[in-house]
Amino acid sequence: MKLILDTANLNDIKYFNEYYPIVGVTTNPTILSKEGGDIVAHLKEIRNIIGPDKELHVQVTETKCEDMIAEAEAIVGLLGKNTFVKIPATDEGIKATKYLSAKGYGITMTAILSAAQAMIASNAGAAYVAPYVSRLENICDDGVAIVAEIQAIFDASGTSTEVLAASFKTVRQVLGVAMTGAGASTVGSEVMYKLLAHPTTDTSIAGFASDWKKAFGDVTLKSLIEKAGK
Ligand code: E4P
Repeated sequence: MKLILDTANLNDIKYFNEYYPIVGVTTNPTILSKEGGDIVAHLKEIRNIIGPDKELHVQVTETKCEDMIAEAEAIVGLLGKNTFVKIPATDEGIKATKYLSAKGYGITMTAILSAAQAMIASNAGAAYVAPYVSRLENICDDGVAIVAEIQAIFDASGTSTEVLAASFKTVRQVLGVAMTGAGASTVGSEVMYKLLAHPTTDTSIAGFASDWKKAFGDVTLKSLIEKAGK
């Protein structure tokens, strides 16, 4: 399952882009509003950090089909290839998605809260659908089970639309989604850190270092190999 970073924080994007195997960045109007300032320059800086080959998902703020289309064209004009336009799953959004996907735009249909919405989005030509796992669980629904339903429908139909699950609060939710066969998940910085961090990994590494030092002092294995080769 591909991992995408769900933030517009430039320091986090620099860090995770350098160290983690992320394939892109997702934003939404709420995420961008946290950054403030010149948001056009900010989006260009995100593209600059991740480079032209990674995915950048940017959501329209318009609500009428024609306005969404014009905004989508402006977003892709600004940010170039591998930019996906996030469009909410409304009737206006579906109409815009039909038009834009036929023109070759990559559309991420967002604010997906049901498998039925995902099916319509896929039929409209969306490249991705973004079901909101935590928001479903906060209304007493089963977010991971709905992702599994969507994935089963996509597998049965053979559509090229991929699931890009979103709205995660826990590592367990991400793993649950990964087990459904979903193509991608977008994860905020806090959960992304927690996917890798483990206290027993830290104590294990500390144990290896201390045992090595007791036996060999500050000598490195590389220096011993080099010495043996002489
Ligand atoms: C994707 O980018 C979604 O907009 C985002 O994951 C929603 O997350 P939230 O429910 O934590 O706001």
